[in-house]
Amino acid sequence: MRTVTTVAGLRAACDQARAAGLSVGLVPTMGFLHDGHRSLMQAARRADDFVVVSIFVNPLQFGPQEDLAAYPRDLERDTAVAAAEGVSLLFVPSVAEMYPEPPRTTVHVAGLTEGLCGAARPTHFDGVTTVVAKLFSITGPCRAYFGRKDAQQLAVVTRMALDLDLPVEVVGCPLVREADGVAMSSRNAYLEPADRVAARVLSQALQAAAAAIEAGERDARSLRAGIERAVGAEHRVTLEYVEVRAAADLEPVDELRGPTLLALAARVGRARLIDNITVTFAADGEARIDLGIDAASVVAPGVASPKPLLSESESTCAAG
Ligand code: PAF
Repeated sequence: MRTVTTVAGLRAACDQARAAGLSVGLVPTMGFLHDGHRSLMQAARRADDFVVVSIFVNPLQFGPQEDLAAYPRDLERDTAVAAAEGVSLLFVPSVAEMYPEPPRTTVHVAGLTEGLCGAARPTHFDGVTTVVAKLFSITGPCRAYFGRKDAQQLAVVTRMALDLDLPVEVVGCPLVREADGVAMSSRNAYLEPADRVAARVLSQALQAAAAAIEAGERDARSLRAGIERAVGAEHRVTLEYVEVRAAADLEPVDELRGPTLLALAARVGRARLIDNITVTFAADGEARIDLGIDAASVVAPGVASPKPLLSESESTCAAG
């Protein structure tokens, strides 16, 4: 595995790979790689010949109150994880390399960015789409892999690629859960042990909603109320939102009929966590619920999962 730090280096390597007849797969990340990221690399390895992982903590997607400096980083370990997953090229640019000048051009996807996480983080998605558009432009024609945990990000990036005719196929991959059901996130590193236990309530509430849907519940308001009640019983967790939205365009729905996203965000200790499930319906009306997959099903060659890195004094509420 090679590491490149320049835009020109990444562009040349991808051009060379395609010239040699190889397909290119891109896994954009902000580093501090966990099993969720590994599953994206594995999906890329299965479908593509030349796999690029980018590691860049993108300042543009952090709001002024979000502590960019405290975002967990461990490049040495990340390099070992990517190498163990058979990644071909690691792209680790500096902020000056990605933004030699403060950008005057940004990408905004209207509508899809406005509710859900966009309500509390009004500048976040423009930061994401701007850096992802740059990564797509530098990498060139490729498949790009994103986790379904960030369901809104996946919808926004997919729409951006469609609207701008970018030569990139955006591939959504399953949300990956820890053994106790908590969705994997670099931000779990911010959780004190008691908060880490309390965080289970989020996936448990979604699982209870899934059980209700399987039992025939289709009313969005009643599903939201059930989740609010379950999460509200855990005093260490503050629910920011729970929403029931059409999976394709993220429009609010009153009743579950087509593909539907149940998504939530919550503050747990110093972390802001998100989680979701997706419901689709078979022709006979039976609900099929995507709860994500277990981390145990992600083969992890050689390198252990990240441990919390931050001491109490160092960590602050952060969200990538
Ligand atoms: O999901 C992330 O880690 C980031 O938002 C991304 C897609 C790498 C853009 O910085």
